[in-house]
Amino acid sequence: MTAYIVYESMFGNTAGLAESVAAGVATCLPVELVEVGDAPMIRDLVTELLIVGAPTHVFGLSRPRTRDDAVDRAGQVISDGRLMRDWIDSRSALSLSVATFDTHVNAPIPGSAAKTMARLLTRRGCTLVTDPVSFQVAGTDGPVVSGELERATEWGAYVARRVGLRPSPA
Ligand SMILES: Cc1cc2nc3c(=O)[nH]c(=O)nc-3n(C[C@H](O)[C@H](O)[C@H](O)COP(=O)(O)O)c2cc1C
Repeated sequence: MTAYIVYESMFGNTAGLAESVAAGVATCLPVELVEVGDAPMIRDLVTELLIVGAPTHVFGLSRPRTRDDAVDRAGQVISDGRLMRDWIDSRSALSLSVATFDTHVNAPIPGSAAKTMARLLTRRGCTLVTDPVSFQVAGTDGPVVSGELERATEWGAYVARRVGLRPSPA
């Protein structure tokens, strides 16, 4: 069995955090880390654990217009195909164990892509194994705030333990 981590990222911060989360999960079971445009259809996933990560855009998940804003800013973005909200928005009923994380600027702005993804996934029948979590970035294009990559690795291991997975013997 393999855990899946699917991420969306414009400037690379969520992608970097997804790698850190994967390092934590990998202490318990093999992990596949994929950008959302390369992910298989969500209804086809067979996995003990699905973790999804995305940047917070305008209090929630990205939309075509917010992605255009990111492209205007960066020239090119990592996730330039399918939107996370479209990948999650499968019409099928799902029965996956899921955890969600986002990146959020280090400022008191309400809203969270992780909470939006949790809401969409539980509506489809998924079980949330822990509360949505946010990791901080210093500004719109980053960088990730000091200590957050380490926290992401710890969180990945914690999530794997929550679904009953134990660290593999060395
Ligand atoms: C169009 C746009 C809207 C954004 N809206 C928010 C927001 O509402 N709240 C927030 O905390 N950050 C917001 N941000 C900052 C993003 O969260 C930040 O760019 C992201 O976490 C960086 O991750 P990435 O490099 O993986 O894209 C916004 C960024 C963009 C480009």
